[in-house]
Amino acid sequence: MTASCHLHALSAYVPDAILTNDDLARMVDTNDQWIVERTGIRRRHRLDAGANASDLGVAAARLALDRAALDAASLTHVMTATCTPDLLSLSVACIMAGQLGAGPVMAFDFGAACTGFLYGLSLGQSILAQNPASRILFVCTEALSRRVNWQDRGTCVLFGDAAAACVLSGDARQGQAALEDVICHSDGTQRDLITVGGGTACTYELGQPVRDDFFISMQGRETYKHAVRQMVNVCEDILSRNALHMSDIGLFIPHQANMRIIEAVGSRLKITPEQLFTNVEHYGNTSSASIPLALSEALAAGRVKPGTRVLMTAFGAGLTWGAALLRF
Ligand code: UT7
Repeated sequence: MTASCHLHALSAYVPDAILTNDDLARMVDTNDQWIVERTGIRRRHRLDAGANASDLGVAAARLALDRAALDAASLTHVMTATCTPDLLSLSVACIMAGQLGAGPVMAFDFGAACTGFLYGLSLGQSILAQNPASRILFVCTEALSRRVNWQDRGTCVLFGDAAAACVLSGDARQGQAALEDVICHSDGTQRDLITVGGGTACTYELGQPVRDDFFISMQGRETYKHAVRQMVNVCEDILSRNALHMSDIGLFIPHQANMRIIEAVGSRLKITPEQLFTNVEHYGNTSSASIPLALSEALAAGRVKPGTRVLMTAFGAGLTWGAALLRF
């Protein structure tokens, strides 16, 4: 199924508070050198006490609606990718739709972890195939600091909070970028490699303190190997089924999880420095928000011109992974 799906008004929002590697070295047994050498991360943003994923999402969504000169009341859908929702139920999308004044739109969340942006592009394409007049507010928002185990040095240095939002529509005239293709995969047999707790599998009696299972857990080494292999494979697949080569790609935006993973993927795919965009240094791994946050910075930095073809790839808990091609 192919349908016209155009992305525009991409906007990102990060909370003000910054946590540096030196801040973390005061909390757990780590240091700036280890974190930079193993991950490339120097700082990450952290949302304030009392704020939630919906607050970050609303801030990004307001920027996107302003940029699109769109009234929230003209939206047909609010769709949210998140693995750190405010509540198990109701959805972040419902909370945001209410705050934005979107009216009786179809509002829903979905969970695809760090691959959320790519899954959302695929979902948006399907919604637009059903009704080309749809106008979808698509928000990726993550409050990962709420589920970081601040005693686990193997994971607490990796993650940051952020949100990004865009409008998906079938109208090419409004479109900043056309979705050329998207591939989404999963492998639930590897589900234990990365988990974020807090669901009904975390069973607690009233008054009982939370245990480790409430927080993010990750088998880093194993995850790393899967991440590199699957992102390389899916990029090769999407290029080949579109009869493209890496030389046809103007900008490559991989999920910003770890600089070493990005470099390993980049060297296997023979990406040149001119093709690559990274910002993991400033934000850490912001899960579903990572690719749209990077893409919005690449746009602001003038790295995308009319006609530029962007290849994006992501990998995350599930396991999930995928790739997508956008043409600006
Ligand atoms: O978005 C989801 C996708 N997730 C990812 O892409 C993450 C994939 N994995 C990774 O990026 C890497 O595996 C990590 C950055 C998480 C870890 O790097 P690593 O080179 O795989 O380290 P390791 O887990 O094998 O640990 C090596 C050593 C251990 O010490 P010993 O046992 O050798 O004494 C760890 O305890 O490094 C230690 N270590 C640390 N030391 C200082 C682990 N975390 C830290 C830390 N500071 N923060």
